[in-house]
Amino acid sequence: MDAYNITVVGGAGIVGREFLKLLDSRGVPVKRLRLLATARSAGKTIDFRGQRITVEETSPASFTADDHVVFLSASGAASKEYAPIAQSNGSFVIDDSSAYRMDPAVPLVIPEINADDLEWHRGIVSQPNCTTTPMVLALNPIHRVNPLKRVIVSTYQAVAGAGAAAVEGLAAESRAALEGRHEPSGTQKREIAFNAVPQIDFFSDDGYTREEIKMANETRKILHAPSVAISATCVRIPTFFGHAMTVWAEFERPIDAVEARRLIASAPGVKVVDDPATEQYPTPMDAAGTDDTLVGRIRGDSSLPGAIVFWTVTDSIRKGAATNVVQIIEEAGRRGLIRRG
Ligand SMILES: NC(=O)c1ccc[n+]([C@@H]2O[C@H](COP(=O)([O-])OP(=O)(O)OC[C@H]3O[C@@H](n4cnc5c(N)ncnc54)[C@H](OP(=O)(O)O)[C@@H]3O)[C@@H](O)[C@H]2O)c1
Repeated sequence: MDAYNITVVGGAGIVGREFLKLLDSRGVPVKRLRLLATARSAGKTIDFRGQRITVEETSPASFTADDHVVFLSASGAASKEYAPIAQSNGSFVIDDSSAYRMDPAVPLVIPEINADDLEWHRGIVSQPNCTTTPMVLALNPIHRVNPLKRVIVSTYQAVAGAGAAAVEGLAAESRAALEGRHEPSGTQKREIAFNAVPQIDFFSDDGYTREEIKMANETRKILHAPSVAISATCVRIPTFFGHAMTVWAEFERPIDAVEARRLIASAPGVKVVDDPATEQYPTPMDAAGTDDTLVGRIRGDSSLPGAIVFWTVTDSIRKGAATNVVQIIEEAGRRGLIRRG
C-alpha cells in the first residue's frame, strides 16, 4: 500500500487516539501524520511509531494540498467547516460525524457490506453511527438472500460512544455515588452511574431521538433498501466500552434460528457466540478492545413465527468508529481511490 500523509481532526479524542493505534497495529504506511484539535489540546504531544507529534489547533489554514487523507473525528460543526476545504484540496476525506451521512453525494460505507460505494465518492466518505454498524453487519448476510422487511431494535450503549469526557464522567459519578453522593457530570442527559437513560441526542417531533432516526436512515442507505421499516429505542447505560443491542427482524420470507445463525456466522467481521446449553453469549466486556461484532441469543420470535431476535455487542470506538475508518482507507487505497503526490 502507498504511504499517506494523514491529518486527523480530533486527533486527541477517544476515537482519534484509537485510530492511531490501529494505523500502527494494522501496518498502514504513513509518510506524515498531523494531529489537530481545539486550543484545549493544542501543544499536547502524542507518540506514534516512535515519533512525538504535537497536537495543533485547527483552523481553515490547517489543510493543505499534500494531505492525502483527512480524517474528521471531532464534531458535526467541525466537519461542516473543514470537510469542504479538505475536499477542495483533493484530499480523501473520511467523516466520522453525522454531518454528511445522509448526503446523497456522499457514500456511507461499511467495507464488508458496501465497499463498491467508495467508487462514486467525490472527495468525502462518511462512516456510520456506532450503533448502526453492528446491527447492519449482523443483518446484511440474511438480507442478501432474503430481503429485510422490518426491524425493531433496543440499544444498551456504553458511555465511550459519547467521547472521552463521558468516560471520565461515568467514573467520577460512580465514585461519588458509592460514597452516597449524587453528582451528575453533565455528560449525559441524566446522571448515568447506576442508571439507564432513554435519550441519546435530541428529540424530534415524532418522539424519536436523533440517534434513533440515524439508525433507521443509515441502515436503509447502507443496505440500499429504502423501504425497510425500522423502529429504534436507544438507551445509554453505565458501561464504559461496548455497545449492546437486542434486534428483532422480519424478512420477506420466514426464517428460522438455525438458518439465521448459519448466515450470520458466514459474514466477515461477525462472530457468533451462541450456545444456550453452555450459557454462551457475548457481553460488552467481551467486545471491548476487539474489532468483531459479536452475536448471540439468536432465536425464532415466539410472537411472530418466521421472524428472529438476536443480541449483539461491539466496541463503538473500534468497529463502531476507528477500525471502520482504517478499513475504508485500506480499501480505498487498494482501489486506487486516494490521490497522492
Ligand atoms: N465515541 C464513539 O464511539 C464514536 C463512534 C462513532 C463516531 N463518533 C464520532 O467521532 C467524533 C469524535 O468523537 P470522540 O468520541 O472521539 O470525541 P472526544 O473524545 O470528545 O474527542 C473529540 C476530539 O475532537 C476535537 N474537537 C472538537 N471540536 C473541534 C473543533 N471544532 N475543531 C477541531 N477539533 C475539535 C477535540 O479537541 P480537544 O481535544 O481540544 O477537546 C477532541 O480531540 C464525533 O463526531 C463523534 O460523533 C464517535
